[in-house]
Amino acid sequence: MFQRIGFIGTGAMGGAVAKIAAESAPGAVLYLANRTGAKAEALAAQLPDARAVSNQEVAAVCDLIFLAVKPQVMPQALPALAECLARRTDRFVLVTMAAGLTCQTIRDLAGGDYPVIRMMPNTPITVGAGAIQYCGLGATEAELADFTRLLAPAGLVEPLPEHLIDAASALSGCGPAFVDLFLEALADGGVACGLPRRTALAYAQAMVEGAAKMARLSGTHPGVLKDAVCSPGGSTIQGVRILEQRAFRGAVMDAVIAAYEKNLQLKGTHPTGTGQGETP
Ligand SMILES: NC(=O)c1ccc[n+]([C@@H]2O[C@H](COP(=O)([O-])OP(=O)(O)OC[C@H]3O[C@@H](n4cnc5c(N)ncnc54)[C@H](OP(=O)(O)O)[C@@H]3O)[C@@H](O)[C@H]2O)c1
Repeated sequence: MFQRIGFIGTGAMGGAVAKIAAESAPGAVLYLANRTGAKAEALAAQLPDARAVSNQEVAAVCDLIFLAVKPQVMPQALPALAECLARRTDRFVLVTMAAGLTCQTIRDLAGGDYPVIRMMPNTPITVGAGAIQYCGLGATEAELADFTRLLAPAGLVEPLPEHLIDAASALSGCGPAFVDLFLEALADGGVACGLPRRTALAYAQAMVEGAAKMARLSGTHPGVLKDAVCSPGGSTIQGVRILEQRAFRGAVMDAVIAAYEKNLQLKGTHPTGTGQGETP
């Protein structure tokens, strides 16, 4: 198991992954580095066995190094560590979560054929109900297994061939924003029908969570589950009619495809393949 786990960048995603690592690797020491040092210090104060350090110290001592900076920052941040990494004689693994950056791009920026794991997390990992897809380049089976164990409290942690990571990012990484939009719209509808705002939102959240859980646990096709709610001549089928008329399903498909296309475009707009990327 990894003993010295480092983070370069302790923003939203780096911070979330650091909290998960602290939970699942109680014996490990966390090394936290961030451009604005106060952020790393504040996080270190919340976690046991964590210290705020510099990027260089993370690069020099950690056996697992999470690179949790924005994709467009990587071409400056990672080459700055190349000398430090090159001096090391012990084994270490780099982990990138940057949208659109391949394992090979990370190797090129780091200046060596180091083992790399590329992961794509989403925001629900902060509540243990997220999804992480990952692939490795040069990482051993044992390292990948340790990585999977380390992040297990995040939710679903699954290997995926690298050529599918951009697609997973469009669905699983961007998807929480699409569902949040749906939640807000459902609550708005409830408010329009007279429910208090707080109540409407609570019902929307419970219903969406429950419908997803039922689909997952039953393994039943969503179309069959939908049919079961639509009584002949009833009210649900009238709602379904409106959603079909307004091309709800086509709009959702297009949202995923647009996010995917943007991922591909971002990848192609920078000489290193980093693009000018935002989060997925
Ligand atoms: N958020 C998501 O839903 C999501 C999902 C999947 C993947 N990701 C990926 O996760 C990565 C981080 O995204 P995020 O949402 O966590 O962004 P974020 O909240 O902006 O965090 C990025 C952090 O990197 C720090 N930083 C910038 N330059 C640095 C440097 N040279 N050295 C050390 N730290 C530096 C920033 O410090 P300051 O405090 O000074 O700004 C900031 O705290 C991105 O590559 C993104 O593609 C994010």
